Amino acid sequence: MQKSFIKGIVIAVGGFVFLNCSSVNKVKSKSDVPSLKEAFKSDFFIGTALNTAQIEEKVPGAAVLVPKQFNAVTPENIMKAEVIHPEWNRYNFELSDKLVAYAKKNKIVVNAHTLIWHSQLPQFVRRIKDADSVRMFFNEHITTIASRYDGQVYSWDVVNEALNEDGTMRRSIFLDKLGDDFVVEAFRLAQKAAPNTKLYYNDYNIEQPKKRAGAIALIKKIQAAGVRIDGVGIQGHWHINHLPLKDIEESILEFSALGIDVMFTELDLSVLPNPRDIVGADVNQRAAYEAKLNPYTAGLPDSVQTQLAKSYEDVFRLFLKHKDKISRITFWGVDDGQSWLNGFPVRGRTNYPLLFDKEFKPKPAFYSVIALKSKGK
Ligand code: XIL
Repeated sequence: MQKSFIKGIVIAVGGFVFLNCSSVNKVKSKSDVPSLKEAFKSDFFIGTALNTAQIEEKVPGAAVLVPKQFNAVTPENIMKAEVIHPEWNRYNFELSDKLVAYAKKNKIVVNAHTLIWHSQLPQFVRRIKDADSVRMFFNEHITTIASRYDGQVYSWDVVNEALNEDGTMRRSIFLDKLGDDFVVEAFRLAQKAAPNTKLYYNDYNIEQPKKRAGAIALIKKIQAAGVRIDGVGIQGHWHINHLPLKDIEESILEFSALGIDVMFTELDLSVLPNPRDIVGADVNQRAAYEAKLNPYTAGLPDSVQTQLAKSYEDVFRLFLKHKDKISRITFWGVDDGQSWLNGFPVRGRTNYPLLFDKEFKPKPAFYSVIALKSKGK
């Protein structure tokens, strides 16, 4: 009887130890995945764009991953004028307030995006014909939103995408009705409304020499007017076959010589064939679907996966080289399933541009980026 009692205890203890080991292992295998924000904590903020479902924590995978991996978030759409300011006298702060609360709860900073942009404008603004009404929208929009979130968000992209590829000012309702100085004016209003918020200019392809020169001239103009600008965001929508490393490095040096922070604010690396004539990230550009433009619906071939990992390694090596000048790297999305590149510039494709796959698992590119820190490469 004693024997079987002891045997029982041995089995029970063994079972307990076994169970315990397996649960420890489970926990261990989860925490075995390193954290980007931890790995780069002495270098720069590591951010991600969040969509509505993610802000509302309706995506379980993202709800677990985001606080673990990122210490900065950018709203992918909800702070754009068409969402936050749908009618003349109506603002919709519900989702932005949720974002701020979510970030606070998780000790994450919010990089608000964006006050003045020609795209994703509400209908009422598109219909305005006279300059006075555009001016009124412009003043009220910036002042109301920037002051509401001052001290709640870390930064604002005050103006997004004001430049053409050749460095000249892009035609838009703001340029047409308010003239060349609208960018300076936007920063002046933001500075008044949000004295505790960092103010940035954000654009794509401004690592390219001509557009970069336009951005530098614009930033100098803001500074010469005695208006505050704290940083510049290079969006970073690139392609694994055309990663412009030399231009990126020159841009980091030239922008930081202006005495402002440099950030990469919307990083993703497309792996899909580029339809003809489309460069950069002009959200209004579209191309028709063709099967040959969507080759990886059944999964990413190892060769491309490896190239993606190598491209991320190369660009992060460069970021680390200039970490004293770079304050943040933000990915444009948490996981491949969410990426806007599944719908842009061709709808209905399967792209793989981020560090986490659509099951929220880290990809080889994630490990190649992390390895730069762990091996001190
Ligand atoms: C994109 C969003 O990701 C999409 O969901 C939306 O349909 C269009 O805009 N440059 C920017 C971002 O500054 O705001 C854009 O985001 C991508 C290009």
